[in-house]
Amino acid sequence: MRILSVSESDLHIAASALVAGKLVALPTETVYGLGANAYDPEALARVFEAKRRPTFDPLIVHIADLATLDKIADFTLLVPAAADFAHALASALWPGPLTLILPKKAIIPDLATSGLPTVAVRFPAHPVALRLIELSTGAVAAPSANPFGYISPTDAQHVADTLGDRIDFIVDGGPCEVGVESTVLDLTSSVPTILRPGGMPRERIEAVIGPVNALASKPDSPSGLGTASGQAPQRNPASPGLLASHYAPRASLELFPYGRLPRERVVEPGIALLFFDRRSRDGYFYGFKGSSETLASVGQPSKRIVVRVLSQEGSTVEAAATLFKILHELDGLQVSGILAERVPAGGLGDAINDRLYKARSAAR
Ligand code: TXA
Ligand code: MG
Repeated sequence: MRILSVSESDLHIAASALVAGKLVALPTETVYGLGANAYDPEALARVFEAKRRPTFDPLIVHIADLATLDKIADFTLLVPAAADFAHALASALWPGPLTLILPKKAIIPDLATSGLPTVAVRFPAHPVALRLIELSTGAVAAPSANPFGYISPTDAQHVADTLGDRIDFIVDGGPCEVGVESTVLDLTSSVPTILRPGGMPRERIEAVIGPVNALASKPDSPSGLGTASGQAPQRNPASPGLLASHYAPRASLELFPYGRLPRERVVEPGIALLFFDRRSRDGYFYGFKGSSETLASVGQPSKRIVVRVLSQEGSTVEAAATLFKILHELDGLQVSGILAERVPAGGLGDAINDRLYKARSAAR
């Protein structure tokens, strides 16, 4: 594996590799993707193999112009309203962290879509991704560049650490701005449905096309927060990315309501506390002697604990951008367990809570 820069000459090297059927990890505004030529079944097979990803979990095809959308998606198979929604969303929110599920055309190999008649399409808002797509074949299939089930990578080092020996190149474009994966919206169902909350907030989608459905990512939360819709657990093979075990750190993660991390647990050796904001952290440590990093607590000798805050000021945008980076870091520190709290719903909060919930499910 070789790490490339974002210089034009390096991007030419990366693009030629894609055309030749090789695997190139590339930066997007959400997370790093593991790119392969979307028209090349052999290259796609390599993606599944490198990620150890089951082939029933389909890939997202990344494009860099709307002409390619017409080449890969068959709008004649959509009801007119859904086709209108697709065009309205594409013009209002692309490029951006929104993936649309649309009927596929035959040019997209079945392996890309796991045999489904639909294809996931995304127009990323990252100049390096767009340039690579343009310079290669115009359509790059890219799942997140992590081993199946593990935390998504938000910088090149994360990719190198976990997939470095299984891929050909990593284009290092620095840290990802958004930090959680794209929102996946199915336009082939009778009502547009969010299959995965992500970097494009539901509110912004609804501002363009009106009300959408959302599948529940947390069917019956033991933290008592429940779901907005109260829907049953989703095990629909048409939305395999909703497998409960996803985005998981190696350390077990327990999830609590905001402001309710159990204070008695602070004495456990090697435990990490993950707060949403400064206010919540300060509330937790109020009355404890010592700083939040070194505690002389509850009759114990001074001990170091690991404390992380997603966003000091309580911004869900900042929290999304730091979530996976912090989970990677905590795994590197080999903490014994992570106690995390939910973040406020709405905006990117829904995507963050979904990822925390899935990290927790996997730990069980
Ligand atoms: O932000 C992102 O979306 C990143 C970057 C690299 O673009 N990519 C990403 O890909 O997160 P991946 O493979 O990790 O997640 C793709 C999700 C999966 O949950 C998959 O099941 C779903 O999209 N998906 C793909 N094709 C689908 C289809 N035809 N129908 C329903 N769900 C689909
Ligand atoms: Mg993924």
